[in-house]
Amino acid sequence: MSTTNESKIVLVTGGSRGIGKSIALHLAKRGIGVILTYNSNANQANAVVDTIKGAGGKAVALQLDASKTASFGDFAVQVSQVLKTEWDRNDFDYLVNNAGIAQRTLIQDTTEEIFDELVDTNFKGVFFLTQRLMPLITDGGQIVNISSGLARFAFPGVAVYGALKAATEGLTRYFAKEYAARRIRVNSVAPGAIDTEFGGGKGDESHRNQIASMTALGRLGLADDVGAFVASLLSEDSRFVNAQRIEVSGGIYI
Ligand SMILES: NC(=O)c1ccc[n+]([C@@H]2O[C@H](COP(=O)([O-])OP(=O)(O)OC[C@H]3O[C@@H](n4cnc5c(N)ncnc54)[C@H](OP(=O)(O)O)[C@@H]3O)[C@@H](O)[C@H]2O)c1
Repeated sequence: MSTTNESKIVLVTGGSRGIGKSIALHLAKRGIGVILTYNSNANQANAVVDTIKGAGGKAVALQLDASKTASFGDFAVQVSQVLKTEWDRNDFDYLVNNAGIAQRTLIQDTTEEIFDELVDTNFKGVFFLTQRLMPLITDGGQIVNISSGLARFAFPGVAVYGALKAATEGLTRYFAKEYAARRIRVNSVAPGAIDTEFGGGKGDESHRNQIASMTALGRLGLADDVGAFVASLLSEDSRFVNAQRIEVSGGIYI
């Protein structure tokens, strides 16, 4: 196992925009090599890669649809090839399962199609991608699953999404249990309301003010708030933190 940040490598799903982009940039700033994925936004993914390279870091962007489990085998082969060609390694150190989608519908309006799309992307994809990449993760490495404050509190219109994030937090503990022999730490990070384009963004001024008023620190979160925290979690300073859910929300709905 490698010991310095310079030789560490992270794979961040959904690293082209929002929270995943911030996680990628914060880790790159710490000297960590970055493999980031995008679904459809190649340009934005390449811009993140260029930013990292421009600052003297190393990064590669790969396409991945987190809802298409049938593609995960080929994706793992691509990851192996990139590890070899870019870093001369066979494994990587950190996996951040960040890619996700939102679909706002009340329970009475939720179709099976919406339900399945949410399950495939936000839960089934996380399980099978992690399972598939496990042989490529270094013993003593780490996994972070991005959850949501909505796993703790309920809000109309996000029943399936919130329940799946709660399921991901459960899965986090099971992965930590089953991979303990390999000393792989697995934690979930639950952002509060973060100002990204997620689910169409955070709405008009009055909605944003309402969210801020429900938050102890009095503002919406920024992608950077989460990126900075995940970078600190993926460091030696957090070496005994395992199988936990940590909320990065400024204290929303407390
Ligand atoms: N923003 C919030 O308020 C908030 C709060 C709590 C939790 N979260 C969680 O934080 C994570 C990131 O959210 P965000 O706010 O950064 O969202 P975002 O700004 O919408 O970015 C989403 C990222 O995920 C990728 N993505 C979308 N669908 C995908 C798919 N089917 N397969 C693979 N990648 C896909 C996107 O790639 P493209 O650029 O190619 O589309 C993009 O990189 C999600 O898991 C979300 O549930 C967000």
